[in-house]
Order: sequence, then C-alpha cells, then structure tokens
Amino acid sequence: MNLQLDQRIALITGASQGLGYATALQLSREGALVAICSREQAHVSAAADAIHGETRRPVLGVAADVSNPADIERLVERVVEEYGGLDILVTNSGGPPSTSFEETTDEMWQQSIDLLLMSVVRLVRATLSHLRQSDVPCVLTVTSLAVKQPIPNLILSNSVRMAVVGMTKTLALELGEEGIRFNSILPGWTVTERVHDLMEARAQRNGTTIEEEIGKQAAAGPFGRMATPKEFANVATFLCSPLASYLNGLMLSVDGGSYKGTF
Ligand SMILES: NC(=O)c1ccc[n+]([C@@H]2O[C@H](COP(=O)([O-])OP(=O)(O)OC[C@H]3O[C@@H](n4cnc5c(N)ncnc54)[C@H](OP(=O)(O)O)[C@@H]3O)[C@@H](O)[C@H]2O)c1
Repeated sequence: MNLQLDQRIALITGASQGLGYATALQLSREGALVAICSREQAHVSAAADAIHGETRRPVLGVAADVSNPADIERLVERVVEEYGGLDILVTNSGGPPSTSFEETTDEMWQQSIDLLLMSVVRLVRATLSHLRQSDVPCVLTVTSLAVKQPIPNLILSNSVRMAVVGMTKTLALELGEEGIRFNSILPGWTVTERVHDLMEARAQRNGTTIEEEIGKQAAAGPFGRMATPKEFANVATFLCSPLASYLNGLMLSVDGGSYKGTF
C-alpha cells in the first residue's frame, strides 16, 4: 500500500526516543521530510542521524522544550524555513511523574499542564497558518489509554490528558470544515524508556523487581505482552497519511485490547 507520504513535511515533537522516535522513523521510511525535537541537542541529533542513516531521507533535529512557548515558536519557524511548509504535526513529549494525589504539589500540576496541555495548544497555534497551506493537513495528538482507564499513581496523566482529548475532538469539529484532520492515539503499555522508569517506581513501591512489574502489567492484557514502539508507529503513520482522509475526531486506543469496556 502506498501511503502517499513521499515529500510530505512532518514535525514530531518529543522524538529522540520511544513513541515519537518510532513514529518519525516510520514516516521517514515512507518518504516524508521529517523534523523532530527533544530537549537535549545531543539526544535529538543522535536520533536524527540514526533515522537518516537508515532511510537516507532528510531529517531535521532541533533542541526544543515543548513546555516553553518561545521554544515552540523557534521550532516551527526552523521547520518551515528548512522545508518550506508543514503537512503533519504529531504532538508528543515525555510524561509527567508518577505520584498519588497527596504527593502531587501545585507546582507539579502546573508543570504537567504546561508539558501535556499547553504544549499542544501552542503547537497547534504556531502551525495552523502553515497547515492551512497544505492540501493534506493533519494533527495527531499522542495521549494515553489513561483517559479511558485511569492508571494507579499517575494522577497527572489521568487528569491533564483528558483536556487534550477534549481539545483534539473540539478542533476536529472546529477546523474539520477547513479540511484539517485532528485525531488522537491513546497508547496502552508500550515498551519504551518511560515504561522502564514507571516500572522501576512501581518496583520500589512494592518491593519487587522491574521485570516482575513488567510481567504483571503485560499479563493484564489479552496478548500477555506490551506493544512495541513500531506497532504504535505503524498506526500513527497510517493516521497521518492521506489514505486516512476520512478519519477525523478519532480517539484511537492502541492497546492490544487491554481496555475492558466495550466502547
Ligand atoms: N510508552 C507507553 O506505554 C505510553 C503509554 C501511554 C502514554 N504514553 C505517553 O506517550 C508519550 C511518549 O511516551 P514514551 O514512552 O515514548 O516516552 P519516553 O521514552 O520518555 O520519550 C519521551 C521523548 O520526549 C522527549 N521529551 C521529554 N520531555 C520533553 C519536552 N518537555 N519537550 C520536548 N521533548 C521532550 C524525550 O527526549 P529528551 O529527554 O531529550 O527531551 C524523549 O525523546 C509520553 O507522554 C507518555 O507518557 C506512553
């Protein structure tokens, strides 16, 4: 299947590793002109080199913190300067810390709002005029299965991401008439560096090992394993492709069926 992504311009934030990296790599494999960011120049440069090394396609790596409004402005300007426009925006970043309600300070709430919610507000605002120039514009927000099924000790993710899916759906309605598609993927458990860190926190709480905690979590889903980043990226890449032209306002769980509800 030709996903018609050749020469499409895609910005993926939070993409030096994990879900963002896997998505950038897959888009690049499909011929897209990819730009990625993360906070650390060394991380993002290494990731851009690795993607380019495999696909031989142009990859722009920019150091930018998506919780910083000035960084977002600079990032988008740099991408448009380099590639001359933008067709695809994938909003992603690291996740918030693992805490219970009583451990969570006002400062942590505010940082998570800046990281998870305001980053999306600002990225969409900064890219909108460029997306309007594209003939296949789309935005994909990476959220979490936590919006359907709260995860223990992740109150910040469980709460703040609800606002992101609410905004994604609203934008799908508000800007759909201009042909800009807005969708969200709600990843279930996927083997990345962040999950390793979360399982480490659980192991410390429960007096177990990281491997035991990964095993317990994996066993809770029907497949008995977590997803690979590539399984996430395959879905993300299709959703961003012109072939998904009638998919708009979708909140898609990529969780191997681990969500227990019917809808
Ligand atoms: N993996 C899962 O099972 C899962 C499930 C549900 C939801 N999610 C969510 O999906 C997102 C990606 O998950 P992941 O597992 O791929 O995370 P990850 O392994 O921690 O990777 C996060 C990426 O984002 C970058 N980053 C972190 N903070 C940033 C910031 N403020 N600005 C720009 N870049 C930033 C990191 O690079 P630098 O350190 O260089 O900045 C890294 O490249 C997270 O929000 C996570 O909570 C993940």
